[in-house]
Amino acid sequence: TKSDSRVLRAELLSFDADPGDSDTPAPGSVRHIADGALWIEHGRIRAVEEYASLAPTLPPDTEVIDHRGKLITPGFIDSHVHYVQLEIIASYGRQLLDWLNDYTFPEEQRFADPDHAAALSDAFLDELLRVGTTTAQVFCSSHPASVDAFFAASHRRGLCMLAGKVLMDRHAPAGLTDDLEGGIRDSERLIGDWHGKGRLGYSLTPRFAPTSTRAQLDAAGGVLRSDDSLWVQTHLAENTGELDWVAELFPGSRDYLEVYEQSGLVGPRSTFAHGIHLDNEMRTRLAERGANLAFCPSSNLFLGSGLFDRQAAREMALNVTFASDVGAGTDLSGLATLKAAYQVGQLRGQPLTAWQGLYGLTLGNARALSLEAHIGRLAPGMAADFVVLDPAATPLMARRTARSTSLSETLFAVMMMGDDRCVAETWADGRLQHRRDDLEERHRS
Ligand code: GUN
Ligand code: ZN
Repeated sequence: TKSDSRVLRAELLSFDADPGDSDTPAPGSVRHIADGALWIEHGRIRAVEEYASLAPTLPPDTEVIDHRGKLITPGFIDSHVHYVQLEIIASYGRQLLDWLNDYTFPEEQRFADPDHAAALSDAFLDELLRVGTTTAQVFCSSHPASVDAFFAASHRRGLCMLAGKVLMDRHAPAGLTDDLEGGIRDSERLIGDWHGKGRLGYSLTPRFAPTSTRAQLDAAGGVLRSDDSLWVQTHLAENTGELDWVAELFPGSRDYLEVYEQSGLVGPRSTFAHGIHLDNEMRTRLAERGANLAFCPSSNLFLGSGLFDRQAAREMALNVTFASDVGAGTDLSGLATLKAAYQVGQLRGQPLTAWQGLYGLTLGNARALSLEAHIGRLAPGMAADFVVLDPAATPLMARRTARSTSLSETLFAVMMMGDDRCVAETWADGRLQHRRDDLEERHRS
C-alpha cells in the first residue's frame, strides 16, 4: 500500500506564543523558515524543518510537493459563524434586530428540511476550505436535523468543527422556537451522537438572552455543569437596541453579562460574539472566567453595531478571537476579517499588526477555544491542517509583495489584500481538500 507520507517544500510560518502588539514580534513567538519542509503522515505533522536538513534523511520514495514561492501557515480558525445564514450574506440596510426579523429568521426556517441542511452544510464547508478555514465554531439553526447534517458533512471530510443547535424558546417565529424540555432533550441527544466523535465538539448554543427564557438559560447551564468538555457560544452586547431590550427582559440582572453569569454560562469554553458595548468591569469578569470575545469586524461594520475595543480587552487579559460572523459578516475569509479588524482598529487608534492578525487566526483562536493541543501550529504531532498561501495571487499583489523588504511587510500586504484568490491550497486531516487551480479549471470548462 502506498504510504500517505509526504513533504511540502515552502516558506513556513507558525506561532509558538502571542507575538505582542509591537511592530516586532516578541522573542520566540514566531517560527519562520524561508525554505522549509513540512512532513505530514497519517493526518498529522511529523516534522517541520529546514528543507536542506530534512531532505537527506527522507526515505527515498517520499513524495515532495514543491511549493517554493508560497507560504504555508496553520489552517485558519473562525470562532463564530452561522452556516445557516450563508445565503443571506449581504442583505441590505438593517441593524441587528430588524436584520434578524427581516432576513435571518425567515431563512433559518428553511433548515427544518434535512435535505436543505445537507446541501447547505456541504456548500458552507466548500466555502470555508476555499478561504483557508479548516476549523470553525458554528451556529446551526434550532432544528436538530441542521446539526446532524453539519456534523455529518464535517466528519466525512475529517474536519475539526464545533457546532450546536440554537436554543430559543421565545421572541421568534413558531417555525424556529423550541421549548424548555424539547430544546434541552434535542441538545443532549446531539451531544450523545456527535460530541467527541472524530474531530467534532458540541457547543451549547443559546442564541442570545432575548430569545431564551431564564428557565432555558438555566437548563443550558445545567447541561454544561454535567460535562465540562462542552463548549458554549452565544451573543453579547452587540447593538444598543439589543441592550435596551435585555435590560427590559431581565430586570433581575444588573447588566447583560450577568444574565449569562446567573445561568452558569460563563466559563473557559464560552465564546461571546461581539462584546462591543461593555465596560472594564464586565471585561474583567469575562477574563476571570477565561471566556473569550469573538471580534467580528466585518459584521460590526455591516450592521453598524459599533467599533470593538480590542485594546481594552487585551489590557484586561480578556481573550479575543477573530470571527467572520457570516451572514451578518460580509466575508468568510479570515484574511478579509483581519483587514476589517485593521480598519476598525485604525478608527480606534489601535492598528492591528500582521503578527497579531495571523497569530490570532491560528494559535490565538486555537488557544481561546481550548483546541491548541491539536490545531493552530505547524509542529510535530499537530493535525495536518494548513493553508498554502500565494502572496502573488493577483497581478497587483505580485507587484506589491515584490517590493517588500521584510516578512512583516509581505504579511501585512497579504492581510490587507488577500482573499480566496490567495489560498492556493487548503489541507485538512492530512489531505488536500481545496486547490484553487482545480476550481479555476472547473469554471473554465
Ligand atoms: N444576535 C442574535 N442572533 C444573532 C445573529 O444571528 N447574528 C448576529 N450578528 N447577532 C445575533
Ligand atoms: Zn453571530
